[in-house]
Amino acid sequence: MQRTLAIIKPDAVEQGVIGKILARIEQEGFTVCAMRMTQLTKHEAEGFYAVHKDKPFFGSLTDFMSCGPCVLVALEAPDAIRKWRDVMGATDPARAPAGTLRQEFGASIERNATHGSDAPETAAFELGYFFRGLELIDR
Ligand code: CMP
Repeated sequence: MQRTLAIIKPDAVEQGVIGKILARIEQEGFTVCAMRMTQLTKHEAEGFYAVHKDKPFFGSLTDFMSCGPCVLVALEAPDAIRKWRDVMGATDPARAPAGTLRQEFGASIERNATHGSDAPETAAFELGYFFRGLELIDR
């Protein structure tokens, strides 16, 4: 079993598709271990995306991620990191295959509806950034 962090980003919350994305998560066989809606501060978004701090899109990305509420979801499944990335599709919705969440709900490479951890070390950092161990339910 493996855990990963999913985020339903502010653009998806704004579109009113939290329920559709959570339904897809359950249909795909993930177990939800923890979930919280929050509006990140700019500082919290900068800490979360610190690995991108030297990228030209860092300011805009962290503005967007703090512009409205998002939903943080801890997911568990065999091979959860890869599996969730497959369900989301490519970072750029224009390149995401039909039937993926980003193809369906993403508008641009920045407003791309969902986030997922990209490796086991990143997943450990990202889950720990938002959830205390006690909040991650063993189901
Ligand atoms: P995410 O999976 O949350 O991880 C980093 C985010 O940075 C990514 O999704 C995109 O939203 C954003 N991103 C990546 N590349 C670019 C880019 N070239 N321009 C703007 N935003 C980007």
